[in-house]
Amino acid sequence: MKRTLIATALALLALPVMADPAHPKIGFSIDDLRLERWSRDRDYFVAAAEKLDAKVFVQSADANEQKQISQIENLISRGVDVIVIVPFNATVLTNAVAEAKKAGIKVVSYDRLILNADIDAYISFDNEKVGEMQAGGVLQAAPKGNYFLLGGAPTDNNAKVLREGQMKVLQPAIDRGDIKVVGQQWVKEWNPTEALSIVENALTRNDNKIDAIVASNDATAGGAIQALAAQKLAGKVPISGQDADLAAIKRVIDGTQTMTVYKPLKLIATEAAKLSVQLARNEKPDYGSQYDNGSKKVDTILLTPTPLTKANIDLLEKDGFYTKEQIAGH
Ligand code: GAL
Repeated sequence: MKRTLIATALALLALPVMADPAHPKIGFSIDDLRLERWSRDRDYFVAAAEKLDAKVFVQSADANEQKQISQIENLISRGVDVIVIVPFNATVLTNAVAEAKKAGIKVVSYDRLILNADIDAYISFDNEKVGEMQAGGVLQAAPKGNYFLLGGAPTDNNAKVLREGQMKVLQPAIDRGDIKVVGQQWVKEWNPTEALSIVENALTRNDNKIDAIVASNDATAGGAIQALAAQKLAGKVPISGQDADLAAIKRVIDGTQTMTVYKPLKLIATEAAKLSVQLARNEKPDYGSQYDNGSKKVDTILLTPTPLTKANIDLLEKDGFYTKEQIAGH
């Protein structure tokens, strides 16, 4: 009798960590929920996962790598089946991922690639294409002149891939002598204030002779445009972005930002939720490609981004990304 009681108690204790493929548990560790983009990703992801009978535990690391590592450890001890990670720092998660794998947990890299780690899958938009679109949009508006390259966070692998895409488009123009790169810098944590002061300094150093800026996302473009505005150059210096943030859409309409890149967040979040549930159920997701992360070829789903200018901004409304009122009320 006593033995059965103990056995039952032990079985009960073990229950929370036992996998239940019908109702998978997913941990979602996000770099920084304070950014508009990532809170939308979270909302879409949770909704899609719940539709598939999964439960999601969300954590925000607030751009702190140590915090992200302890949150992942916490998700491991909660006994989740899958951990989906938007890494703050691409290079510091090797051990945390190894711990998860040891505990039988599948790991998915979301939007940004985790380097040198045994992850199961990667899902993102084609970041090289995003970079090509950014440089292409700016080059079309400023085919000649002095260029400044405003890169993303040095801790984010996407920032490097974006730059590769940008250079594919810029290099021929550099070789022809049409454009000259007068400076380039990476923006820590994709921080707009940091971007502002980088561009302020670049303008001072170059006597305001900067004809175009290739910015890697909308947040940093926003900072850069503030620096341009202070010199009465906003709207005169073509500049790119990415994310179709509402503030950026306003700038595109006003003509102070040349373009942005639209990435349907509902699509990546829904696909990622589906992929995670499939992994939890030991099913084989449909991958289109593979991506080398330094330790293996990672099965990858790459989604297609769309360049946005004033000319096709109504796509956002058609796609349900923003309402007419949101766009008009800018
Ligand atoms: C990148 C992401 C962009 C942008 C940026 C800042 O990794 O691909 O969409 O949001 O981070 O968070």
